[in-house]
Amino acid sequence: MASIRDVAARAGVSTATVARVLRDSGQVSDELTAKVRAAVRELNYVPNAVARSLSQGRTRLLGLLVPDISNPFFAELARGLEDAAVAAGHHVLVGSSDLDPERERQLAAAFESRTVDGVAITASAPDATHLRKLADTGMPIVLIDRRMPGVSAPAVLTDNRDAARRAVEYLAGLGHRDIAMISGPPAFETAAERVAGFRDGCAAAGVEVRPDRLREGYLGIEGGHKAMREILALRDRPTAVLSFNNLIAVGALGALREDGVAVPRDLSFLTFDDMSLFPYVDPPITAIAQPAYQMGTDAGRILLDLVDGDSGAGRDVVLKTGFYLRDSCAAPPA
Ligand code: RIB
Repeated sequence: MASIRDVAARAGVSTATVARVLRDSGQVSDELTAKVRAAVRELNYVPNAVARSLSQGRTRLLGLLVPDISNPFFAELARGLEDAAVAAGHHVLVGSSDLDPERERQLAAAFESRTVDGVAITASAPDATHLRKLADTGMPIVLIDRRMPGVSAPAVLTDNRDAARRAVEYLAGLGHRDIAMISGPPAFETAAERVAGFRDGCAAAGVEVRPDRLREGYLGIEGGHKAMREILALRDRPTAVLSFNNLIAVGALGALREDGVAVPRDLSFLTFDDMSLFPYVDPPITAIAQPAYQMGTDAGRILLDLVDGDSGAGRDVVLKTGFYLRDSCAAPPA
């Protein structure tokens, strides 16, 4: 395979001139540009992207580190980031931590060694030392969905606490006086904020938050299924349940169906995170929709500004959630 040196020799110019022609820098005469382009064609030369990027000090690659790219929420977020990156002539490398702190550390190190220009992260590890180290290298970082303690980086978030409060007020408005919540690990900022909003809504409606009505630490479909079975096993069941996220909701709905609990006749149910199937299941599920795609595009634009040295890009962004009112909530059973 021909090298840049072969092209330079064939065209009778320096390798720097060849690089300038390949970059369309406009600093080379038409005559020499024609000679270089002819040599490239004759030698069938393919520029080495890594070599070109190292000479420019940029790889035009962004890294995205999320818990699980197969989760529809993160898939939509990733698409938003990718569209913003591609529009600016960049591409995205994606890694899933699977909520494994060691895997997250390995991915952060891999992104640093692969010299991506910047990294967008939805972190999961309880200890953010590896992220602080990555930030200390000067790597531009944007956090998505949740901030991490001690990591000085802009974040793209949603109005979790306010959205949870509004969801409880909606249930109270239907007449519910006994409401439960299935939430994620308290260490996650999203879980802490949503639980705080749940408590805010209950306080505003004069609804007691009994200890067995607030269930925390669950994750994924299995966690949602387990938590809902625990709720259904209670002697006196709540009349409504709010779910922390999409996957917990899927597991919880499975447990309700297995127990023959009719939604919303026997129990009202709504969740954070809309999913494409929610309008088509029976009953269609009411959801607090996070703008996952926009979280990705906003994070991409902030990251690219940071990569370009725009220090003003370091501000947090808090996006509004939507509330998709469907048929999974009703007045409490008589
Ligand atoms: O599974 C995705 C969910 O967890 C979303 O609610 C997101 O905010 C994350 O916290």
